[in-house]
Amino acid sequence: MPQFISLEGSEGAGKSSAMKVIAAELSQWQVPFIETREPGGESNAEQIRELLLHSAHLEAKTELLLMFAARNEHVVKVIRPALKAGQWVVSDRFVDASYAYQGYGRGLQWQSIENLEQWVVGETQPNLTLMLDVDPEIGLKRAAKRSQKDRIEKEAIEFFENIRCGYLQRAESNPRRIKVIDANRSITSVKEQVIKQLSYFKQSLLNP
Ligand code: TMP
Repeated sequence: MPQFISLEGSEGAGKSSAMKVIAAELSQWQVPFIETREPGGESNAEQIRELLLHSAHLEAKTELLLMFAARNEHVVKVIRPALKAGQWVVSDRFVDASYAYQGYGRGLQWQSIENLEQWVVGETQPNLTLMLDVDPEIGLKRAAKRSQKDRIEKEAIEFFENIRCGYLQRAESNPRRIKVIDANRSITSVKEQVIKQLSYFKQSLLNP
């Protein structure tokens, strides 16, 4: 059965290198897979991403609705067809990000996010989520070395502290699916933890 893996984490957690590690592992396992991302992963969704990350100001509810509008295009046109065709899907972010960023970060109602999730995502849930947990002070320092900040990256540190709480709360409520990786440590350590979690996951598929 093709599997759906998502990767989460706040700014500077090291998602890009973790994506590379996941792709390398899946290639080694010789499973067919696609790599995708949110917001985005499909042409309309990528246009919505532009609006989300580069417009001047967006109301919090608009931000949430656009995240789910992009997600609907992504789920219907990319994720479901890939899984149906027997391909694994690895997504750089998925619905947990909406709970963390729009729920905890922006303070929007949990219930509204749950309703949208049920409506848009339904049963198309990740089988495994690797969550890179980083102290925002460390993460933001790392992210500062990169190119220009987008609209969301410009938020204050308190916003990212709330996001971290949101992610950890999601992990606590979904311990079977969400595996927390300590991303405060070196890139090498993060890579090792990712490989370890993937190998546990593979074992769980072989011995359900
Ligand atoms: P990225 O920097 O990982 O490409 O993600 C883009 C930004 O979008 C990042 O700041 C997190 C944010 N985001 C949300 O706020 N809610 C969501 O549901 C998703 C998928 C991303």
